[in-house]
Amino acid sequence: MAIEVHPARELPRDELWNLVGTIRRELGRRGEILPPSWVDETVDGLAQGIGRGWFWGDRRSPAGLAVVWVRDRKAYGHLHGTGTPESAAGLVELGRHMAEHLGPDVGRLDMGSTGLSELEEGELGRRLSENSRFSKLLRHSMVRVLASTGPPPEPRWPEGVELTTVQHVPFGELTSLDWRTYRGTPDETLLSSTPAGNKELLENALAGLFGRYLDEASPAVRTPTGALLGFAVACQESLQSGILLDLAVDPDSRRRGLGEALLLRSLRALLALGYPRAHLWVTEGNTSARALYEKVGFAVDASAMIYRWVRDSTSLPPQPAASSP
Ligand SMILES: CC(C)(COP(=O)(O)OP(=O)(O)OC[C@H]1O[C@@H](n2cnc3c(N)ncnc32)[C@H](O)[C@@H]1OP(=O)(O)O)[C@@H](O)C(=O)NCCC(=O)NCCS
Repeated sequence: MAIEVHPARELPRDELWNLVGTIRRELGRRGEILPPSWVDETVDGLAQGIGRGWFWGDRRSPAGLAVVWVRDRKAYGHLHGTGTPESAAGLVELGRHMAEHLGPDVGRLDMGSTGLSELEEGELGRRLSENSRFSKLLRHSMVRVLASTGPPPEPRWPEGVELTTVQHVPFGELTSLDWRTYRGTPDETLLSSTPAGNKELLENALAGLFGRYLDEASPAVRTPTGALLGFAVACQESLQSGILLDLAVDPDSRRRGLGEALLLRSLRALLALGYPRAHLWVTEGNTSARALYEKVGFAVDASAMIYRWVRDSTSLPPQPAASSP
């Protein structure tokens, strides 16, 4: 069956709104947070042709939708199937189409998917991987029950560190440490590929865009002379759950127990604030973070695949020099 792809702006607005709303609900169910205004902003953007998106199938009952956002020369896409027998095949076509229609300066696309059965998801991954520009990145959602298990152990801080909270650290120091700390990890550039983009994400987290920011559960540690060594950022995901959006320890201060102490401090604060569970996302290949989370009692409760497409680097225009955060 030939799969024809059309611009999303050709869909009736209500249909588009329903599809984008379904994506948000499905992502929310598996613990992926999007700002409340996301559905309306996405639909407005697609309808006006500012955002980019495509569908396949009938205009009045589309079989799949693809949407993509571009930030810092990096694209973030999403594929959604509506459960038709050809779902995976249609999404493969949408994924390829998306990769082919990014601007020439976009070097990478990371896409998630919803609306597929496990079998179809496997089929989507297999078919996309036939193209050598696509690879897969597995992310795990991990949960730590806080209520009914007794409080998490008291943190043991290494000697000579001072405890504060994220709100008391100058923002530039937070972003500079955050940017440095992810270098060389599998999460490098997953959420942002430039210091400015990274800064915006952290700014949004502290402004409560991903859920109310909880300073009591966001500890930071520094040396007596004020150098920042590490921090954690926690927000309210729901009344039942706090989410850890960031945990970063200076590369020169690792394996001293700081990451574990920051995490335990955050978990104890979440429990004291009344959240019965804590939640976070981690990439499969981030073995140090996963080992830490397992050590303090987190367990995987769901997983999601990210499909990554990378342009041939020889065809990319030169990147402007990155400004410091
Ligand atoms: C993950 C991270 C916060 C750990 O910080 P840390 O201060 O080095 O960790 P700790 O010294 O407290 O280690 C506590 C436990 O974590 C695990 N761990 C930490 N680093 C590890 C490594 N390199 N390899 C294996 N296990 C590791 C161990 O279980 C360790 O317990 P142990 O010392 O009894 O073996 C740090 O490596 C980091 O900032 N990484 C980059 C940012 C990141 O990936 N954040 C998580 C995003 S989801």
